Amino acid sequence: MGRRSRLKRLRREQRALERSYVPMQSEPFRILRSLHASIQGKCGESSRRCWELLLEMFAHATGWQTDTSESVHLWDGLDGDSRWVEFIESWTDEVDYAKANGLPFSEPFGELLESFQGTNEHLGQFFTPMPVVHAMTEMMLHDCPPPEPGGWPSMRGLDPCCGTGRFLISALVHHDGIFMHGVELDLWLMRCAMLNVRLLAKWTSLRMRDPGEGLKPFGGRERSKLQSQGLSTPEVGGDILVMGGRSIFINGDSLMVDLDYTPNWTVAGWAWKPYPWQDNLKINGFYGSYNQWIDAGRPALGAEDKSELEYDYSMADRPRPSP
Ligand SMILES: C[S@@+](CC[C@H](N)C(=O)[O-])C[C@H]1O[C@@H](n2cnc3c(N)ncnc32)[C@H](O)[C@@H]1O
Repeated sequence: MGRRSRLKRLRREQRALERSYVPMQSEPFRILRSLHASIQGKCGESSRRCWELLLEMFAHATGWQTDTSESVHLWDGLDGDSRWVEFIESWTDEVDYAKANGLPFSEPFGELLESFQGTNEHLGQFFTPMPVVHAMTEMMLHDCPPPEPGGWPSMRGLDPCCGTGRFLISALVHHDGIFMHGVELDLWLMRCAMLNVRLLAKWTSLRMRDPGEGLKPFGGRERSKLQSQGLSTPEVGGDILVMGGRSIFINGDSLMVDLDYTPNWTVAGWAWKPYPWQDNLKINGFYGSYNQWIDAGRPALGAEDKSELEYDYSMADRPRPSP
């Protein structure tokens, strides 16, 4: 057989293999996809829009005050549907098993979005496969210490472009001693990451002995906001449980976020409609707004600013330096 025919045969075999390849899909993914199809059947909107509506419906179903109710008309006929609970139960079972055996688990919302190419490609949105996420987080966090005696996590992690929160949930589920920060430019992906953490509240919540101390970064105002949004339970016997409380999110450009700069905390949280970020965040060594930074030609750090980086940043409240 000549070289050309061998190549032809190889290509034919390759095409046959691709056609026969059906990726393994988890039970939670299949339930989620069928819920998504039902929503699309009801409203006829685009796959991406129906994915967003699905997120909002899950948020409402778990008692989250979202400040939006764009999906409210879709509940008719879907409110008694057993698939909502089946999804949560099957995902919880899967994560339980993964946690007990140190294994990766699936992240169905991102999988669903990618299955119909609903990502915003101009933002480089593609999601890391969960087994790879698991391998990477385990390499990074193999020596993650347990939480402090009062319940506050002893280590902080940052996912600056968190997408649907895959690295966050993997780290939070497998390591009790870590607190995760998520930053994401795309509002709906940030919402998805927050929802993922919320749905996995069994592993991602914060049980505090001394809530006043532990909730310091949230501040008093944020603490009551958390309670009014249904994200934390009232204190029980001195303990407080914050759903998904081992994480906090910023909807913004990770370039502009300095997590150790206290004013950033005022725009971080669990808001479904977060505060506009352009005017509130800070890049290390530049004390203006994002727009001022753009107008100034996106200045890189000057030599004198480098000393800033060596500064011992802590979460302590510090006054904002004058320009
Ligand atoms: C390649 S995806 C990775 C998502 C996730 N970390 C994962 O591995 O599955 C990159 C994500 O970063 C977001 N992104 C892109 N530029 C960003 C920026 N400047 N600041 C914050 N997020 C950004 C995109 O919207 C996208 O969700």
